[in-house]
Amino acid sequence: MNYDSILAPAAKEMRPSGIRRFFDMAAEMPHCISLGVGEPDFKTPWAVRDAGIRSLEQGRTKYTANAGLMQLRQEICRYLSRRFELDYQPNEVVVTVGGSEAIDLCIRALVQPGDEVIIPEPCFVCYEPITQLTGGVPVHIATKAEDDFRLTADQLKAAITPKTKLLVLPFPNNPTGGVMSAADLEAIAEVLRGTDIMVLSDEIYSELTYGLDRHVSIASLPGMRERTIVVNGFSKSYAMTGWRLGYAVGPQPIIKVMTKIHQSCIMSAPTTSQYAAITALRQCDDAIETMRDEYNRRRRYVVKALNEMGLTCFEPRGAFYVFPSIQISGLTSEEFCERLLHEKEIAIVPGDAFGSSGEGFARISYAYSVEHLETAMRRIRAFLEDNGWR
Ligand SMILES: Cc1ncc(COP(=O)(O)O)c(C=O)c1O
Repeated sequence: MNYDSILAPAAKEMRPSGIRRFFDMAAEMPHCISLGVGEPDFKTPWAVRDAGIRSLEQGRTKYTANAGLMQLRQEICRYLSRRFELDYQPNEVVVTVGGSEAIDLCIRALVQPGDEVIIPEPCFVCYEPITQLTGGVPVHIATKAEDDFRLTADQLKAAITPKTKLLVLPFPNNPTGGVMSAADLEAIAEVLRGTDIMVLSDEIYSELTYGLDRHVSIASLPGMRERTIVVNGFSKSYAMTGWRLGYAVGPQPIIKVMTKIHQSCIMSAPTTSQYAAITALRQCDDAIETMRDEYNRRRRYVVKALNEMGLTCFEPRGAFYVFPSIQISGLTSEEFCERLLHEKEIAIVPGDAFGSSGEGFARISYAYSVEHLETAMRRIRAFLEDNGWR
C-alpha cells in the first residue's frame, strides 16, 4: 500500500510538536533534568481525588449527558461568576476532554475553508494545526518582548481582512507568561465590536496570575460575551492534567454546535473526572491559592537567577513559564537547547517551537521543586561560563 498517497494531505502535513522532540531526546538521558513540561508538579488536591474514588465506589461508571453532568455545568457557571464576573447558564457550557478538546471544537464549529484565524505568537502549539485541518488559514501576529508579549490593538487592526473569522486570544500566555490587563483587553474589544469576528479566549491559566491584578476575561467586557468562546479547564489550576477535563462557555447557538461535534467524537467527558471536578470547584479555592503562592516564589527565583546570568527575561505575570532571550549565545534557539541538553543534560524548549517569533528565546517551566530549579540554574550558569558567554 502506498500510505503516503492514501493519507489525507492536511493531516499528513501537520507539523509535529517541537516540544516532544526534546523530551524524546531527554528521555534517553538518565541524569537529565527537565524544565520542559507544562504541567503542575503538585498532586491533585486530596478532596478531589477522594471524590473521584467515591464516585467509582458508588458505581458511577456510565456515560453522562453529552454536554456534561448538569451539576458540574451549574458549578462551572457559579465558579466563573464568582472568580471572573462571567454570567453563563448551564446550557451555555460544554464539558470536554481537557481544554484541548474545547479548542478543537470551537475552531471546527466556526472555521470554514479559506477563513482566516488570527493567532498571536509565540503561543501554545495546537491552534495552528487544528485551523489547518479545517482548511482555515492561520494569520500570525508576532507579540514582542518590548510590549511584554501583549497583543496590541494596532497589530490586530493590521491583521484583520474581510476573511477574518476568529481571533485566538491565548492569555495568560504559554510560553511567554504575558498577560493582558483590563485596559489592554478593552483596546482589543474596541477593534472587534461591530464586526462578525469571534474570539476564542484560551483562559486555561486564568488562576495563575501574579501581582495585584487578577485575570480578566474579555467576555466580561461590554459587547464581548456575544462574540467570545471562553476555554478553560482543570489541568493547570487544580493540577489535574491526567484527568483530562476542560470546558467551553459561550453563546448557546455555538455551544450547541460544539456539543454536537463532541457527541460524535467523544460522547461525554470522563465520568469519574466530572464528579471529581464538582468537588474541585466547590472546595478548592484555598488549594489554588496555595499552589499559586508556591509558583510565585519559584517564578521570582528563576527570573532573578536567569537575569543575573545574562539570559535576560521579561517578568512573566501569568502561567508557569519564563521565556528568556538566548541571544547572548549567538546560537539559534534549537542549537542552544540542543547543546544545553548534550553538554549539561538540561532540557528546555526552543522558543521557535511556539512559532517563528519565538526564535531567539527558550521556554523554561518553573512548575518544579525549588531544589530541582536550583540544580538546573547552576548547570545553565556553568553552560554559559564554559562557552564564554558570561
Ligand atoms: C495555553 C494552553 N491551552 C490549552 C492547553 C490544554 O490543556 P488541557 O487539554 O490539559 O486542558 C494547554 C496545555 O499545556 C495550554 O498551555
